[in-house]
Amino acid sequence: MCGIIGFCGYLDAKEELVKGLAELEYRGYDSAGIACFTEQGIEVVKSVGKVEGLRNRIPAKMETGCGIGHTRWATHGGVSEINAHPHTCGSVTMIHNGIIENYHALAEELKETGRTPVSQTDTEIAAMLLDSLYQGDALAALRGAVEKLEGAYAFCILFADQKDVIYCIRKGSPLVCCSSEEGSVVASDMVALLRYSKEYFVLPEFQVAKVTKSGISVTELDGTEVSPSMLSIQWDMSAAQKNGFKHYMLKEIHEQPEAIRRTLTPRMKKGRYLLPDFAEDGIPDTVFLQADRIVIAACGTAMHAGMLGRILMERLLRIPVSVEVASEFRYADPILDEKSLVILVSQSGETADTLAALRLAKEKGAKTLAVVNVKGSSIARESDYVLYTHAGPEIAVASTKAYTAQLAALYLLVFRFAYVAGKISAEEVSGYMKELDGVGELIEKVLERKEQVKELSKRLTPVQDLFFIGRGLDYALACEGSIKLKEITYIHSEAYAAGELKHGTLSLVTGGTPVIALATQPEVFGKMISNVKEVRARGAMVILITKEEKKDGLESGIFEEHLVIPFCRDIVAPFAAAVYLQLLAYYTSSYRGLDVDQPRNLAKSVTVE
Ligand code: M6R
Repeated sequence: MCGIIGFCGYLDAKEELVKGLAELEYRGYDSAGIACFTEQGIEVVKSVGKVEGLRNRIPAKMETGCGIGHTRWATHGGVSEINAHPHTCGSVTMIHNGIIENYHALAEELKETGRTPVSQTDTEIAAMLLDSLYQGDALAALRGAVEKLEGAYAFCILFADQKDVIYCIRKGSPLVCCSSEEGSVVASDMVALLRYSKEYFVLPEFQVAKVTKSGISVTELDGTEVSPSMLSIQWDMSAAQKNGFKHYMLKEIHEQPEAIRRTLTPRMKKGRYLLPDFAEDGIPDTVFLQADRIVIAACGTAMHAGMLGRILMERLLRIPVSVEVASEFRYADPILDEKSLVILVSQSGETADTLAALRLAKEKGAKTLAVVNVKGSSIARESDYVLYTHAGPEIAVASTKAYTAQLAALYLLVFRFAYVAGKISAEEVSGYMKELDGVGELIEKVLERKEQVKELSKRLTPVQDLFFIGRGLDYALACEGSIKLKEITYIHSEAYAAGELKHGTLSLVTGGTPVIALATQPEVFGKMISNVKEVRARGAMVILITKEEKKDGLESGIFEEHLVIPFCRDIVAPFAAAVYLQLLAYYTSSYRGLDVDQPRNLAKSVTVE
């Protein structure tokens, strides 16, 4: 939520900020703004809408080597120029990612100092607070502010009397920093650092980064110098670009075979048997052996990956596993102890609710293991153990390759756990692992059939409502198919456990209602087909997804469209089905002429609760 960037160096800062904002735009695109030091003082330019609009407003003659930029996902106050960042009060100009929860009480207090906000934002109140505390000593003002501010924040701050210096501090929200020959850069995400350096550090919470063109110094709030640990980015600029694809989402869908290979390969130990191995991840088998229950906490698509993981875990491990919506989990007073293993699943590793769930699990003494894509992210750093998915940067708001890489990571966890717990033999694990190893190829085969999905999507383009149905693993997939379609096509859709439909929702199925039915699992295949017939009898337009081997035995007339999963073992069929669902959402959104990569009201990284 919200992308922030600061640049101080030897290049044209306004240009660098705008380039960085374009790369961070997936984090929010309600408005954008920059503030730069110039000979005339601090100049602020803002505009409602996307970064391109801001670019057109920035005076070409503005000369600057240091400034800050922001792309907004509105939380407090509507989408307007006045609410766009940066916000200024007196000598303070700043940008913010996060939410100041006690902003209202602070605003009341600050009234007495004669400061009144002009916007409806919580950020402006933070600027007012800092201005009231600033008397030439940035650290002292920040110390005072940190004591008073409640909520989450990553701030980049300019003090009018400290030309060409940016101060940064964070709590909860992310901020990464790097230095290079061109200057010093701070940003919400390393995609905006890549053009400068592959070496970066995550600013630790409550430490202050002082950014100048000659480098970044980090201190505690009391001024004690610290040297943050450096990290390396494994990928380069091309990984964060469209590379000839029309949209990031389509590119990321096509990257799945490679992304999954990157998840699997480092963990595949070849010997007499092919076994999953987490030695390099530093995850000992005791983590599994000591667990008598597992909780998976996540949000959105990551939670859907968890739903699928849960079914496999219970099936192979025979211990209780639950999947929790992270935002509910934290207020549910969950029953956890030191024998509980809590698995957090997150692409960004910054989702505020998942992070809060992690902290709660730790407080309750549970062991925590994160399945995360972004290296060095908060969830990765705070968990006891982390299994990186290595899917590479995911820019489209709709998650695709991160999801299938999460599935691959969860499969690895289940297989290792079941093996060390003696629930399945080395031979069986090896058999499963070989199937998993072939998932990249399986997805490539599905991608070869994308023209069929493209054609079929034309039928969904004018639709208002539709349903996804499935049982077991297919129900988890139905949930994922539904969120993908909703978020980028704006078509109302519901995912239903196929057997549950007749307990109320079937009344919504009438002539022509599209129903996407997933029937990839043999143990429920017959029942699924009965459910398909039930909706067909009410006139539904059925799009059926089955495996190749079921193709010939299907009764005629039970579907209008049929998507076929190439031959594979049942356990890996969800990967192929997921790709069909992603393509369906992608092409439907495209035909509807929508902004596929940046759907309305959403943002990629949800760092507010
Ligand atoms: O970064 P995370 O995986 O923690 O994000 C969780 C959800 O916000 C995310 O999966 C969201 O549901 C996607 N936009 C769905 O495509």
